[in-house]
Amino acid sequence: MGRLNGKAGIITGAAGGIGSAAARRFIEEGADVLLVDCDEEGLARLAEDLPQSQSACFVADITDETAVKGLVADAMARFGRVDMALLNAGIEGRLGRIAEIPVTVFDQVMAVNVRSVWLGLAALLPVMRVNGGSIVITSSVAGLKGSARLAAYSASKHAVLGLMRSAALEGAVDGIRVNSSNPA
Ligand SMILES: NC(=O)c1ccc[n+]([C@@H]2O[C@H](COP(=O)([O-])OP(=O)(O)OC[C@H]3O[C@@H](n4cnc5c(N)ncnc54)[C@H](O)[C@@H]3O)[C@@H](O)[C@H]2O)c1
Repeated sequence: MGRLNGKAGIITGAAGGIGSAAARRFIEEGADVLLVDCDEEGLARLAEDLPQSQSACFVADITDETAVKGLVADAMARFGRVDMALLNAGIEGRLGRIAEIPVTVFDQVMAVNVRSVWLGLAALLPVMRVNGGSIVITSSVAGLKGSARLAAYSASKHAVLGLMRSAALEGAVDGIRVNSSNPA
């Protein structure tokens, strides 16, 4: 018996390094998992390696509100529940000093790293009220200190910690834990 038997989860950025490792681990522990990424080929490669009985792919740009609502609805339709979510998709943006980086890069980093987490929380918290559960947001050590030449990324990873702490307070009454991981 795995520790996650009977549980269902969602992982964003599932085609990437951390997301795919988490997907394998969730599945080893018995969970059903919806694998979400905008990289369709990467998702397909990952899915080839995973048991179809426990995994499904959802190609989405997680900065899009309709897409995020859609992926949570898809998980509910497939599994009947969502117990866990790893809101993990993220981009670094471009390396450079603040004055050298176009504001469009800042906007894109904030959209992928922060807006997507807002959208994920907004879609997940209502459906997770039924059974409670756990949401983990992938922040970074860059969310805990300044990062010269990666200011937009650092700002975005600080921002999700505010979202995490606030959502944890909101979710507590419904038995929903919200945490972050802060990889180096
Ligand atoms: N790897 C590290 O050393 C490290 C360190 C600290 C924090 N992190 C954070 O961990 C998370 C995962 O990092 P990783 O190293 O696995 O990166 P990665 O680039 O391997 O994976 C990120 C995934 O997110 C997906 N993605 C990007 N934009 C998306 C969008 N708009 N919609 C849907 N999917 C999108 C990409 O296609 C990719 O598969 C990120 O949030 C990153 O900032 C990573």
